[in-house]
Amino acid sequence: MISLNDVSLHLAGNAGLVEVLNDISLDVEAGETLGLVGPSGSGKSSLLMLLGGLERATAGAVRVLGQDLGAMNEDALARFRRRHVGVVFQSFHLIPTMTALENVRTPLELAGASDTAARARDELDAVGLGARAGHYPSQLSGGEQQRVAVARAGVMRPDILLADEPTGNLDGTNGRVIMDMLFDLNRRHGTTLVLVTHDGVLAARCRRTIALRDGRICPPDKAAAGAATGAATRSAAGAAATTGPGGGR
Ligand SMILES: Nc1ncnc2c1ncn2[C@@H]1O[C@H](COP(=O)(O)OP(=O)(O)O)[C@@H](O)[C@H]1O
Ligand SMILES: [Mg+2]
Repeated sequence: MISLNDVSLHLAGNAGLVEVLNDISLDVEAGETLGLVGPSGSGKSSLLMLLGGLERATAGAVRVLGQDLGAMNEDALARFRRRHVGVVFQSFHLIPTMTALENVRTPLELAGASDTAARARDELDAVGLGARAGHYPSQLSGGEQQRVAVARAGVMRPDILLADEPTGNLDGTNGRVIMDMLFDLNRRHGTTLVLVTHDGVLAARCRRTIALRDGRICPPDKAAAGAATGAATRSAAGAAATTGPGGGR
């Protein structure tokens, strides 16, 4: 499904070249649930962006669904993302001038789908926000905004759903609702999930976790020694083999 081979991302920063990611090799199977953990600045968000074709590797090959993302031009890459990839950000990233319904409807419209209003409404119903369809993001709580963001990311039934600290701005109850929604997409539609998280509970629900440090994948033993929280530690320690409760398929 996803295959990274010796991938690096080096970007020009103020003080010269920044080695954001180095020598990342990684395979993710279809239907897998993968957690990315690691300290702030270790490259988690950048890796997520590479997987989704939102950022281009400066060396190495990123293959997703059998296609070499590095060989695609911008148009092809944009089409690929729209068809196959859904993204949920920590800070929701809803369009403020659009209602909840319009936000969820946008990917369908861009894809030229039919019955976009009805499908967007069904998706909002499914996340318990049917009654909020006409509300603007500023009229919704943080938890509600993130539910709209998940509905928007899932409405196209993407093959891959990428989420960057999706529960990071939410309290425990709202975080759990979002978590359940994401794993529900995995269970019901086989969506491959890759989640960046600091939340040990969320990491432990993933079938596998990978720890990053300074732009590199940590060997499992070192990840365990350095990880901050108990659940993340246990999960990272098992890296390749751990099967968490309810995680993956
Ligand atoms: N566009 C960029 N230009 C230069 N450096 C960047 C850029 N994006 C990220 N970085 C640097 O790359 C490192 C990893 O960033 P990031 O992927 O956001 O980490 P994380 O999500 O783990 O906190 C950080 O040191 C950050 O400052
Ligand atoms: Mg980040």
